[in-house]
Amino acid sequence: MTQYRIAWLPGDGIGRDVSEATKLVLDAVGLKADYIHGDIGWEFWCREGDALPKRTVDLLKSTDAAFFGAITSKPAKEAAKELAPELKDKGFAYRSPIVRMRQLLDLYVCLRPVHAYPGNPLNYKEGIEMVVFRENTEDLYAGVEFSPVPEDVAACLNKNSKSFAPFNGLKGDEYAISTKINTKKGSERIIRAAFEYAKKYNRKKVTCVHKANVVRATDGLFLQIAKDMAPEYPGIAFDHANIDAFCMWALKNPHNYDVLVAPNLYGDIISDLCVQMVGGLGFGSSGNIGKDYAVFEPTHGSAPKYAGQYKVNPIAAILAGKLMLDWLGERKGDRHLQEAAVKIEKAVAAVIREGKARTYDMGGTTSTLDMAKAIVKKL
Ligand code: IPM
Ligand code: MG
Repeated sequence: MTQYRIAWLPGDGIGRDVSEATKLVLDAVGLKADYIHGDIGWEFWCREGDALPKRTVDLLKSTDAAFFGAITSKPAKEAAKELAPELKDKGFAYRSPIVRMRQLLDLYVCLRPVHAYPGNPLNYKEGIEMVVFRENTEDLYAGVEFSPVPEDVAACLNKNSKSFAPFNGLKGDEYAISTKINTKKGSERIIRAAFEYAKKYNRKKVTCVHKANVVRATDGLFLQIAKDMAPEYPGIAFDHANIDAFCMWALKNPHNYDVLVAPNLYGDIISDLCVQMVGGLGFGSSGNIGKDYAVFEPTHGSAPKYAGQYKVNPIAAILAGKLMLDWLGERKGDRHLQEAAVKIEKAVAAVIREGKARTYDMGGTTSTLDMAKAIVKKL
């Protein structure tokens, strides 16, 4: 195998526990890599006023891919209170490091597999097989927000609002605005990625999730692009649903869904809904994938109350490691890596099916590292 350079960002909280577990599995499949530690997370916010220091961004730019554990995030006002005294009131603003990585590195695809491993006691139904393609850089995550609302923005809104304008006559500090920005380019490339994935892996259907009946401009644009692209993929069925109806139907008939594609925020929401049907966050892995770089992470947060206890389920993180091997293997044309990825998934499936190793979320007492070791044994 070739020697790769992996940015290794365990983060804080249980991010460290699950990263350690993932490393056991990556070592066992013989991934030859330099793991270069990167600083990220809450302690760097408190100490330096930046949860994603520039040196870490530089590290990302000099590696083949990154593995990210989890970090603690808090709302901007609470975060400001925990800054080191010398950094307080100096204009530091907390922003989520993962959202920043996605935008800085243009990781426009958020790939989230949803697979009911047979024998998982947490499966809502057996046989669920979906994959979420979440747009990962724009939409309500664009980061263009106003609180208070400046006068020029208010004037522009007043001029352009037609019938109902709840903000008319309000002072700037009496409301707030978060903008939802969806570009044609951003929408096209995520929808394209979803269809291409469906084609490559012989999936039957792509469903576009939106709210175009109300959010006409942005979601209307997204849906129209999906509708226009669908005929380019004659072998793949296409349908679409408003996000509220989708949530209801997906819960009722999860087997009716296959590949899902959605703007950023809806994609965020439906990925949690869908992964809960196959065991919850202990089973949710993400690939944040761009043209030239990708960051792989378990979808869960840092659960600070369990930090360092080696209690949580590492499967989400291990599957994120598997996604990393898939991506690197394909990108570098490295067949060994692709085989290693398949092996990892088979080993995970075998451990779940066997039912001996069960972390606390699955009703057992197996520790984080023992779960990883059980998976290693099956490799
Ligand atoms: C996710 C998470 C993140 C998001 C948070 C931690 C910023 O919920 O990856 O789904 O909203 O994208
Ligand atoms: Mg989320």
